[in-house]
Amino acid sequence: MPKERMRWAELLDVLTDSDRRREVVVERATETERMALFLLRRAGWSAQISPKDTKEYDIEIVKPGVRSAVQIRNQRAKVHLGQIEKYLDFLNQPNGKNFTEGLFISTSGFTKSVYAYLREEKIKNLQLAIMRDHNLIFDCEKADAADEREKTTYIGVFTCKGGVGKTTISAHLAGAFALNGYDVALVDLDHQQNLRKLLGEGVYLPATKGSLGSVISVLSGDEWDEGDYKDTKIVVCDCNPEFEANPKEYIQKFDYCIIPTTLNPLGINKNADVIKRTFSAIRRENADAHLHVLINNLQPDEENRNTLLNQVLKTQFKQISERDGRVHYIDPAECAIRFSKQLMYWGFHLFDGTKPQLAFRTVGRYSYPRMDFLKLVDYLELQAGFQKLKAKSFGA
Ligand SMILES: Nc1ncnc2c1ncn2[C@@H]1O[C@H](COP(=O)(O)OP(=O)(O)O)[C@@H](O)[C@H]1O
Ligand SMILES: [Mg+2]
Repeated sequence: MPKERMRWAELLDVLTDSDRRREVVVERATETERMALFLLRRAGWSAQISPKDTKEYDIEIVKPGVRSAVQIRNQRAKVHLGQIEKYLDFLNQPNGKNFTEGLFISTSGFTKSVYAYLREEKIKNLQLAIMRDHNLIFDCEKADAADEREKTTYIGVFTCKGGVGKTTISAHLAGAFALNGYDVALVDLDHQQNLRKLLGEGVYLPATKGSLGSVISVLSGDEWDEGDYKDTKIVVCDCNPEFEANPKEYIQKFDYCIIPTTLNPLGINKNADVIKRTFSAIRRENADAHLHVLINNLQPDEENRNTLLNQVLKTQFKQISERDGRVHYIDPAECAIRFSKQLMYWGFHLFDGTKPQLAFRTVGRYSYPRMDFLKLVDYLELQAGFQKLKAKSFGA
């Protein structure tokens, strides 16, 4: 056996008799799990593969006073916030309560939204680690330095209909990018100039734990200039619902369009028509942009109705997306903006005289808007990464 292969085999032969007994009943531990088991034991933990039929976690580790459930992910893309949300849900459920904390190990790292979320919600019962080159790295945000953005990304929030959340979504999507450490230009293309009214010249999200902090600059269509804002690589445009009123040079630059809509029974057909009109309007000027239908105002406690209404609405775009590979319907299970009082009353600061801010305050346990918009950033980033991979593998 070649030397390297032999070393690996030795390294991975870490199962104790009790692991083996469990393994006979369970499916075989994967190589990634065995590697993690080895590294955790080397780090002084008493570690065991999870019992039969346990899907929520892969390994249990124990030290005096600490009992931790370990989840391991070996996937090509970085672990994103939706996956972390699911694991946090498990840790907070009764059977998760047997553990004092959780550990999530990824071989590919984590998205920026994951770090931003854990930091902003001050979540203490979940640790992250990256498994790389036969090591567990716990200081992973540093190790996970994301690819630098060379090109400026333009995102248009647009639909030919008023009052469905364009301004709300533009502002908070910009906010989520800012939480991820990016400076953002928030360009107001709507005559109503609501963003100026709501946010003034902009907002600054202060630095936390060694990061630099980031700025959202609110600008009119004339004020934005790539040369003047060299560090700003994300541009989010709040569009005018009247297509012709939007400067063509912006529409042509869009890499992504977010098209907000709602799951309202009486409105479903009408909304679908509006969205189809929106698609064809954008396509007149821009053949390349990815167009994403996003559900806004989702009622989180109406799962059955949402599933059914979602099916009905989704079907309306099936043919279009078969013809145009860049038309996407974002499944609300993956990402949607939930109805929240925070978003409903966002803008109240205009009346009580407090300073401009985004609806990202933690209320009760979590902040819905913050979670939802960070997931939207993940969705767009992973989609972009996927496109890059695809382009590479086709040699384009
Ligand atoms: N997810 C949401 N939950 C609760 N209220 C929302 C949500 N999204 C938008 N709203 C509210 O709906 C109204 C219209 O939103 P707005 O962003 O101004 O729409 P548009 O820019 O498309 O006209 C606002 O009062 C806003 O607070
Ligand atoms: Mg608006």
